[in-house]
Amino acid sequence: MSAPAVKLGGPAPHEDRALLEANLSLVAEREGQLYQRVYAIMFRDHPEADQLFLQYGEERQAEMLSETFTSVFDLLDGESWTPGHVQAMGERHRHGYVVRDEMYAWFSDAIVAALREVSGDAWTAATEAAWERALDAVNALMTGRG
Ligand code: HEM
Repeated sequence: MSAPAVKLGGPAPHEDRALLEANLSLVAEREGQLYQRVYAIMFRDHPEADQLFLQYGEERQAEMLSETFTSVFDLLDGESWTPGHVQAMGERHRHGYVVRDEMYAWFSDAIVAALREVSGDAWTAATEAAWERALDAVNALMTGRG
């Protein structure tokens, strides 16, 4: 008998993927500039993050968010090169930009808050839980926990 593909205690990754993909395409239709909301929320709640970007540059903020979403989907798809790629980005953040581990929750919380805001009535507890699981997995690799 083969091992079950689904981990006990949580939804299957493909269910998370479908939820996240549907939510992101809805949000993209409603808000072309999601990244502006994400950073406005993170900088409002954590002015220290604002200072960091003033110091190291703001040009790559949109790329940072799109890399996060790409990493989420590539991890759910089990792309074998993704963990190494994300760990290397984490190393650059730790040593290049002096990003501390606790700052990753600042970014994920702002992403979830911006998505919730734009989704309106389409936001569900299942969507929120799926984003939290997916972003935690990326953060674990960025900080060397994964
Ligand atoms: C999932 C989490 C994150 C991902 C995937 C990510 C991704 C990226 C990418 C792809 C870049 C472009 C340069 C490079 O590749 O090294 C970048 C730059 C940067 N990131 Fe992140 N990042 C994340 C979280 C954070 C957090 C939490 C902070 C601080 C609050 C942060 C601060 C910065 C800074 C200061 C830069 C330089 C910006 C610039 O050069 O214009 N990052 N990030």
